[in-house]
Amino acid sequence: MSHSAELLPMIAHPSGPLSGTAQVPGDKSISHRALILGALSVGETHITGLLEGQDVLDTAKAMQAFGAQVERLGIGEWKVNGVGVGGFAEPEGVIDCGNSGTGVRLIMGAMATTPITATFTGDASLSRRPMGRVTDPLQLFGCEVTSREGKRLPVTIKGATDAVPVRYQTPVASAQIKSAVLLAGLNAPGETVVIETEPTRDHTERMLAGFGATITTQITDQGRVITLQGRPELKPQPVAVPRDPSSAAFPVAAALIVPGSDIRVPGVSRNPTRDGLYITLLEMGADITFDNERDEGGEPVADLIVRHGPLKGVTTPHDRAASMIDEFPILSVIACFATGPTVMQGVKELRVKESDRIAAMVDGLRANGASVEDTEDTMTVHGTGSLPGGGMAVTHLDHRIAMSFLVAGLAAQQPVRVDDGGPIATSFPDFLPLMRDLGARID
Ligand code: S3P
Repeated sequence: MSHSAELLPMIAHPSGPLSGTAQVPGDKSISHRALILGALSVGETHITGLLEGQDVLDTAKAMQAFGAQVERLGIGEWKVNGVGVGGFAEPEGVIDCGNSGTGVRLIMGAMATTPITATFTGDASLSRRPMGRVTDPLQLFGCEVTSREGKRLPVTIKGATDAVPVRYQTPVASAQIKSAVLLAGLNAPGETVVIETEPTRDHTERMLAGFGATITTQITDQGRVITLQGRPELKPQPVAVPRDPSSAAFPVAAALIVPGSDIRVPGVSRNPTRDGLYITLLEMGADITFDNERDEGGEPVADLIVRHGPLKGVTTPHDRAASMIDEFPILSVIACFATGPTVMQGVKELRVKESDRIAAMVDGLRANGASVEDTEDTMTVHGTGSLPGGGMAVTHLDHRIAMSFLVAGLAAQQPVRVDDGGPIATSFPDFLPLMRDLGARID
């Protein structure tokens, strides 16, 4: 479902110390994958902690359209009765993935090697984003693809009848490309191999192994070589979705920049392929303790204890970018409250996210009095320890831009406005009540 056309303006006011516990929602990447792998298994997959944001709800609806039974049992508790690898039915209608790049790209992969035809659409943001990065490798399996100019949505895929396995080196660090190829490889005979020169989030590999696929990752001179044996029978698994480190980043950032704050964020994934922001914050001198480190559902998790304190600017190296790709908008806010420059290297992928996130942050931060520069592949914030605020940021249908500026407003000298907070529901539907419970003043 696409976000409604009506804008939902929001304003964040300078707030007193934040305190309490922030129960952030389930991980978005893992939630999409749990529904898709559940749909590709034979039998019933039970999921707890599922993120009930619009992006994931759209994937749930898509899995129903391909023939799986998907049912909500309670808050975050879902069951999926799958149709098995190669068992997808042809959907009657168009598959609308709303705002979700992960949803559309992974689902395209999951159906590309089954002899059915499906057409995919999305909202204005998703319709601007490049799909060729996924449909090009999917065509190597033997499917046929038609798309709008520039390989954009709507895209129609006629799945391969006699799929052949593929060996593919991803041209950019992208877990979505890797995952789409692996999911397509499920219904191809023999070995499908994905090679990535820079590691990206590995939830697909972990979950495929958990569902009984034979999948290996070798670290070689070429990079990570991931090999999947095709045509497995996937066996349903209980999936306990850990809390999303990318969503946790917003209350964490708020606590770091609002003087006197002290909050706890329990059960957050510390998967090393997602940990770049937290490594960076420690380098900046942030007061974060990782308490009660444990393993939950195959993912390392910890309770975060976060306190306000002085921060200094740092450089995030190119090879860390993939492990914090969704966190650069909020890091650029935190960087305003640090002293000295924060230089973010290797970030050009941000230009093809839900919005051009470099342009959106540069414009919005400048409108609020920050000193920021960018090149095609870098963003630099000259931190002064404070932010004047008083400006408006344009969200461009991007949830993370909206949340980043609302967090900025809590610690700025003047309130910060966003033109549209509606997209926040795609990934963090309870953002407002959660932040208000901590003491944030957001209207
Ligand atoms: C995701 C991968 C990342 C990330 C997105 C979620 C995933 O995109 O930005 O929010 O779940 O695989 P890319 O793979 O395009 O970098």
